Amino acid sequence: MDQHQNGFDPAAVAAIGSRLKDRPGALMLILHEIQDRFGYVPRGAAPIIAQALNLSRAEVHGVATFYHDFRHQPPGRDVIRLCRAEACQAMGAVALAEHVRGRLGVEFGETTRDGAFTLEAVYCLGNCGCSPAMVLAGELHGRVSLARFDELLAERKEGRR
Ligand code: FES
Repeated sequence: MDQHQNGFDPAAVAAIGSRLKDRPGALMLILHEIQDRFGYVPRGAAPIIAQALNLSRAEVHGVATFYHDFRHQPPGRDVIRLCRAEACQAMGAVALAEHVRGRLGVEFGETTRDGAFTLEAVYCLGNCGCSPAMVLAGELHGRVSLARFDELLAERKEGRR
């Protein structure tokens, strides 16, 4: 997931569509693969997928926008996925979310102005025993206190220099 190409390539989308179109659950498979490849599901992908699956564009668009897993804009260089489900909420995820939004200056679903971080909400990362949990740049972290978040963010920024 670190090697996203943000440039939309209709031929690549068509190739993914034709490779997966006969598989069970083809639409979801295709949308996931497009997101893995580009980091998001470009708007222009819908007509290509619709044609491959013999669906309307509205049907494809409806599924792509219904599931929160799919992004519709290119993400920042790193994605922060913060768990907002019950076990994490019970262990301070509400305060953590407020802190993270303040630190980054963005709401959930947004990317920082410098393009460095995208903040996303997730609902359980399977790490409930070590809540609150988050994924930063593909790495799972547990028991994330406010101070620990600041450390991880600083390390990540430092690592980029
Ligand atoms: S509820 Fe947050 S990891 Fe499960």
